[in-house]
Amino acid sequence: MASFADFHARSLNDRDAFWAEQAQLIDWQTPPQEICDHSNPPFTRWFAGGTTNLCHNAVDRHLKDRADQAALIFVSTETNQEVTYTFRQLHAEVQRVAAMLLELGIKKGDRVLIYMPMIAEAAFAMLACTRIGALHSVVFGGFASGSLASRIDNATPTVVISADAGSRSGKVVPYKPLLDEAITLAKHKPSAVLLVDRGLSAMNLVEGRDHLYGPLRDKHLNTEVPCEWVDATHPSYTLYTSGTTGKPKGVQRDTGGYAVALAASMKHIFQGNPGETYFSTSDIGWVVGHSYIIYGPLIAGMATIMYEGLPTRPDAGVWWNLVEKYKVTVMFSAPTAVRVLKKQDPAFLKKYDLSSLRALFLAGEPLDEPTAEWISEALGVPIIDNYWQTESGWPILTIANGIEKAPSKFGSPGIPMYGYNVKLINENTNEEMTEPGEKGVVVIEGPMPPGFMQTVWQDDKRFVDTYWSSIPGRMVYSTFDWATRDKDGYFFILGRTDDVINVAGHRLGTREIEESISSHPNVAEVAVVGVADQLKGQVAMAFVIIKDPSKVADDAAKLTLEGEIMKVVDSQLGAVARPSRVRFVTALPKTRSGKLLRRAIQAVCEQRDAGDLTTIEDPMALKQIQDMFPPA
Ligand code: PRX
Repeated sequence: MASFADFHARSLNDRDAFWAEQAQLIDWQTPPQEICDHSNPPFTRWFAGGTTNLCHNAVDRHLKDRADQAALIFVSTETNQEVTYTFRQLHAEVQRVAAMLLELGIKKGDRVLIYMPMIAEAAFAMLACTRIGALHSVVFGGFASGSLASRIDNATPTVVISADAGSRSGKVVPYKPLLDEAITLAKHKPSAVLLVDRGLSAMNLVEGRDHLYGPLRDKHLNTEVPCEWVDATHPSYTLYTSGTTGKPKGVQRDTGGYAVALAASMKHIFQGNPGETYFSTSDIGWVVGHSYIIYGPLIAGMATIMYEGLPTRPDAGVWWNLVEKYKVTVMFSAPTAVRVLKKQDPAFLKKYDLSSLRALFLAGEPLDEPTAEWISEALGVPIIDNYWQTESGWPILTIANGIEKAPSKFGSPGIPMYGYNVKLINENTNEEMTEPGEKGVVVIEGPMPPGFMQTVWQDDKRFVDTYWSSIPGRMVYSTFDWATRDKDGYFFILGRTDDVINVAGHRLGTREIEESISSHPNVAEVAVVGVADQLKGQVAMAFVIIKDPSKVADDAAKLTLEGEIMKVVDSQLGAVARPSRVRFVTALPKTRSGKLLRRAIQAVCEQRDAGDLTTIEDPMALKQIQDMFPPA
């Protein structure tokens, strides 16, 4: 076995040879002409001139050896469904959806917005898009009409695919009315909407625009739609994520680089083998769902479980039951889910035969030591923390046991992966931090490895300005995360440098929540901060100045208004973005130049020292908040 240090060094020093080797993990219609084109930094073009197809690599390629093996296992504990699709069946379903999309006028390069619950049709839809060279843009089903409308306007999809409803904790959550409202709100009007009718909620169909999936599928039971061979640099999808401004960014991914990056990660990091089962508990609305529910496992020839439901229904053994039943070898989840399970009876973990499981990967938010220890003890398999972002598409920091076995350290996601030249930079001096324990911003030196975002959809300038311009005089990519590194090179993530918060592993922009709250007619000013939470990692807390203070004259009035404001956020952004509390103040702490002192507010809410307050305009403003959160 090679040493990981050598493997990593080679990925940077002998980059083209290294990635040309990795590129052999996937099928090419025509081989790449150029491995890495970095002639126009910070943009990187991987495997240009090569033609391939993501859907071919995820589905068709496996027909030769494993057509009748499981590919997609759909499990819903909400609707009590459990359906296994073999690669052959998946291939047929994907072609049917591809045929429907072609009939609805979709061409290569067009966008298809997918706003769906965790059902098999959502996976078929994603794969159908990449099959025909259309870009999918999946919007998390938990987002409401306002979020959806802004994404429709940015992606300008020709077709939207949705469903009558999702279900959560046994309660039907209608999607169609939210979609209709979003299309009304949006300037861009999709020409067609394709709707899966699960029989959960009645739908009003819009004549000429809305089509039912079932009857259209029946028309195409035997239609064959070949894969469209696209250049490796052809975009495969956009996926929206939050940043510093209120406007979400469309992260644009390529085709060839992404396929190679995922195939390599499945081998070196996740160590999943063809014929085995992979279970990621994420949602297709997030990047983990794209990379490690759909594309990564399927590219590796594994069966992948798509799960609709809670980890605790019908009981806290439901996931472990699936591990036993489908002989899951690799599992991927988030620390919050583990913290939820930790509160349940530990007997549920002992009830099932978990001997197939080799590792549990956790990502998306900091993994605290007690949680890591508990689950590691309970499962008796390695718990592998991994740090990455929507932007990167695959892990930046973790350990690659497929190259060389390395110990995990509790509290650390690990070390930089091959292809990533990671540095810590002091924000004030812009110097590189090289001593153990020094704190800095995690940055990555270009060129970025395959799989990394190509650009911000239709906004190259925003890509450069947002990610590559934060360290003056040095064109490096900023992750906007603080970290330290120990003497063995292991990183410890300390939190975001920007206004992004992480609630139960969901990345949210506080600016977006503030904009939503500001639309309430009584709100004059608002600040939203992320506050540490035992279960969810962080929760959003809102501080609001009311235009007419008589509206919050007593506790009952405050409670009513708090409820109203929460409803505004629910209906515009979705319950995921709802602040846990809305508190009313008469002033917000700002600097003399008028900048909100969010960090000070956050510190006070967490009963920490507020830090340097020399620039504060009105100390009484912070005092009001301090009085609400007296130091412990
Ligand atoms: O702040 C970091 C945190 O989540 C952010 C990225 O979120 P998202 O774009 O949703 O991608 C998640 C992909 C797994 C990062 O900037 N984060 C992610 N993983 C970790 C983490 N923080 C600490 N430890 C992690 N393992």
